[in-house]
Formats: sequence, structure tokens, C-alpha cells
Amino acid sequence: ISLKPYNTFGIDVKAKEYVSINSIEALKRLLQQQNDIFVLGGGSNLLLTQNIDQLVAHINIKGIEIIENNENNVIVKVAAGENWHQFVLWCIANDFGGVENMSLIPGNVGTAPIQNIGAYGVELKDTCFAVEAIERATGKTKTFINAACNFGYRNSIFKNQLKGKYIIINVLFKLTKNNHKLNSSYGAIKSELDKLGIKKPTIKNISDAVISIRQRKLPDPNVLGNSGSFFKNPVISNKAFTKLQKEHSEVPHYKVSDTEIKVPAGWLVEQCGFKGKRIGNTGSHKNQALVLVNYGNATGKEILELSKLIQKTVFDKFGIRIEAEVNII
Ligand code: EPU
Repeated sequence: ISLKPYNTFGIDVKAKEYVSINSIEALKRLLQQQNDIFVLGGGSNLLLTQNIDQLVAHINIKGIEIIENNENNVIVKVAAGENWHQFVLWCIANDFGGVENMSLIPGNVGTAPIQNIGAYGVELKDTCFAVEAIERATGKTKTFINAACNFGYRNSIFKNQLKGKYIIINVLFKLTKNNHKLNSSYGAIKSELDKLGIKKPTIKNISDAVISIRQRKLPDPNVLGNSGSFFKNPVISNKAFTKLQKEHSEVPHYKVSDTEIKVPAGWLVEQCGFKGKRIGNTGSHKNQALVLVNYGNATGKEILELSKLIQKTVFDKFGIRIEAEVNII
């Protein structure tokens, strides 16, 4: 079976076998029968470079449930197979605040904690109350409270020490019911709201603003295959930054600590001349250099080659290593 419909890069590789998992019971039953499975979620953060010689278990468990409802907060339990953006829209419709800045991020709820998805000043970790996962080796369910997930910038315990060991089945969020803590300070959101003349934004206004910014800048995976940002934004020392700024006074940057500064990888890639450039069936997107795209028939290997060429060119020009954000299989 071709996995093309199941990865947003639209890469045509084959799986030995495929099964859609629609319940926790079905997942537990499968794990009792066999352990050598490839777990697939929303397929929005992975680059498939070869056929999968395993059973692909596609996690399609659905359900959104309010499990606690207090005066100011709700705790919501969301099944791993729910589409992330549909969940965000459900929150907006119910006036539950906290995830609106992360509107329109592709992928499913169950894979969101693995890389601690984030956008426009907000990350999943800010509202994630806990993660429920099944241990592959034992079939037992374990709850990881937020602090146990070791969340960091596009990072968590599920990508590191526990990589491949657990399958996430539910994510619990603590959301606001009133007294929403709006995060509209990000430049692009501010100018979008100004343009519409909105002075006191609601969570719906912020979500709408994010949706228009993303639609303007980022390619729709249904039209042009991609996995969002291909690289992470590198964090460099103050010393390295001073050197960089001397040669490029306009370099955008954000302070992350007293000793370190984050530089947008998109800027570095653009400076190397890749933005909007097409190489064979792949290329770097015309509006956001950080996003690599599949013009139709690219193989995973071709995209991987381009990513390596970009990494090398950035390193040769700036002495900065940029690391892939997507999971390369
Ligand atoms: N920039 C360029 N050229 C480009 C792209 C960006 O010069 O081609 C510069 C921009 O001018 C701006 C800066 O880089 O000053 C930052 O750009 P942007 O606001 O687009 O954000 P980003 O750092 O490139 C990150 C996330 C995105 C997220 C946005 C908005 C990472 C790796 N990426 O991108 O997340 O949507 O911020 O918050 O942290 C994703 O992870 O897949 C993703 C899309």
C-alpha cells in the first residue's frame, strides 16, 4: 500500500502492511500480537525516504471530552487521532482559550507533544496538562504530567529518552474559560489585527489573524507537499552572534538567555540564495525559505539531498549548523 495519502510531503513510498487503529482496545490487541510496527500519526512532520518494511499502524482514535469544568478553566481530554486544527476550532467555538495562536498547524493531536508544536509565541507545553501513552513493550497505560514530558523548543522526552517506546493515545489540555491570556505581541499578529482595526481581540480574532498569516506565507500541503519548517532555528552564542551581526547588521534575532541568541534558519537559508529556488522536483518555498516543498513527484531521498545541500551551504557561509526539525525515516 502507498503511504502517499498519509504524509503531508506527499512522498510515494510503500508500506508492507497498513492498519487503521480506531480505538485504544484495538491498539492494545495489536501490540499483544506484534511489536514490530511503525506508528503513524498525522504524517505532517516526517520525511519518508524509503519503503517501510513493517506493519504501519495509523492512529485514528477520535474523541474530545471535557473531564473537568471549573469556574475559570476546563480540562479537556483529546484522542490522539483528532486533527489538530479541528481541535483548535472546537476550542474557539466553545470559547476555551490557550491554543488559538497554534491555528492551522497541520497534523494530529497525538503527535503534537512529541515535538512540542508551537507558533506565534505559544507552544503546546503552555496548555498541555498531561499526556497519556501506552508503553509498547508492556501494553500498559502511563500518564505523563507536563513536567515529566521535558518539553523544550520543538523537543520532548518522546523524541529523546523515550523515542519509540510509547504510543500517545490522549493529550489533556488545561484551557481558560474567561480571563483568556491573549498572546498578540508577535509582530505579524499585531499588524494583522491593526489592519482590521481590532483593538480588543478575542481568541477568535487571534485565530483568524493566525489563519490569514499562515495562508499567506505557508504552502497548503494539499496543494504543495511540505512538512512546515524543515529545520529548527539555531541557537548560537553571543560571541558567534556578534561576529555574524558585524557582517550582516540586518540579521533578525531573538534573545533566548543571557549567553545565547536564536537566529531564524529561514533567514540563513534565504541569504544562501535558496528561497524560491527549484531544484528538480523539490525546492525551498518562495514565501518562507525554511519550508521545503515537493513539486509533485519528488522522492524522499531528493528532498533529503536538498536539505543536506542547504545545511552545507549555510555552514560554509555562516559557520552555523542547522538541524532538521522533521523526522527523517
Ligand atoms: N525570514 C527570512 N526569510 C525567510 C523566512 C523567514 O528572512 O524566507 C525571517 C523573517 O523575516 C523573520 C524571521 O525570519 O524575521 C522569522 O520568520 P517567521 O516569523 O516566519 O518564523 P520562523 O522562525 O521562520 C517559526 C516556526 C514556525 C512558526 C513560526 C511563527 C520554527 C522552526 N519554525 O518559524 O513553525 O509557524 O515561527 O511562530 O521554529 C513549524 O515548526 O513547522 C513551523 C511552521
